[in-house]
Amino acid sequence: MPTVFITRKIPDSGIKLLKSKGYVVRVYSGDKPIPRAELLRRVRGADATLSLLTDKIDAAVMDAAGRRLKIIANYAVGFDNVDVKAAAARKIVVTNTPGVLTEAVAEHTFALMMAVARRIPESDVFMRGGRYHGWEPELLLGMELQGKTLGIIGLGRIGFRVAEIAVRGMGMKVTYNDVKPNADFEKQFGGRFLRLDDLLRTSDIVSIHVPLLPTTRHLIDAKKFAMMKKTAILINTSRGPIVDEKALVIALRRRIIAGAGLDVFEFEPKPAPGLAKLSNVVLTPHTASATHEARQAMSLLAAENIVAVLTGKQPLTAVKI
Ligand code: DGY
Repeated sequence: MPTVFITRKIPDSGIKLLKSKGYVVRVYSGDKPIPRAELLRRVRGADATLSLLTDKIDAAVMDAAGRRLKIIANYAVGFDNVDVKAAAARKIVVTNTPGVLTEAVAEHTFALMMAVARRIPESDVFMRGGRYHGWEPELLLGMELQGKTLGIIGLGRIGFRVAEIAVRGMGMKVTYNDVKPNADFEKQFGGRFLRLDDLLRTSDIVSIHVPLLPTTRHLIDAKKFAMMKKTAILINTSRGPIVDEKALVIALRRRIIAGAGLDVFEFEPKPAPGLAKLSNVVLTPHTASATHEARQAMSLLAAENIVAVLTGKQPLTAVKI
């Protein structure tokens, strides 16, 4: 029977499916990402591996698995942790989990946006610190979202859903930047396609939804912060290295921009020095997709991809290079 190696305990829907097929399912049981040496050892002989975004799946891992390895099912929509070219050279299918976490990530994007705009964590600390002594006309003033311009960088599934909530739910205006304009989107939501620099200059809130690629690494750096409005808020729920985090700390400290909401960090799990000391930033630990619904669905989709490939069928969500 085929063997599936799962690099860490995940919600059980996918594991149940794999076991129901009679596969031998081996799960690394540590409570931290699997150490490299352990990964190279434990993957040996697997027909399929289900990996996490914290695992570097490169040629060495594929070779350590051996010739039986047919699929790397990544438990994330992002797949920058997998060397897809090395996989293609070895005829190993790589899959990801798009679609099933769109809602969770889009909602988290708004949670961050509102938390920064309405200074929720600062207010919470204020209350718990016993500093509230009665209503004040100018206590903890924030920014309303209605009527503001949201600039979306990357109009994939998640960017699209964020735009929809912004326009339909919050009464915001949207602009977007992507590799090419999307006429359908413009018709539905009245969103305007802008060059990145123009989007940064005109947005009240900028939300990043592009994958991490060589072309998107440090897409937002000191030069870009200087273009943004002083009142602007940056939200990042995609991948940390898209933002030059050192430059972000300076921009927030010097009030070059007003605030940021971050779910991802350039050098995870550590935020850049000084970031966590700033009161105009809200930080969450890469939990944008962390809902019961999304994580179970990701588990199931990863497993369905494995079953498809191991039974000679097309995977549902293959990564294309
Ligand atoms: C993804 O799926 O890429 C997300 O970052 C996981 O939370």
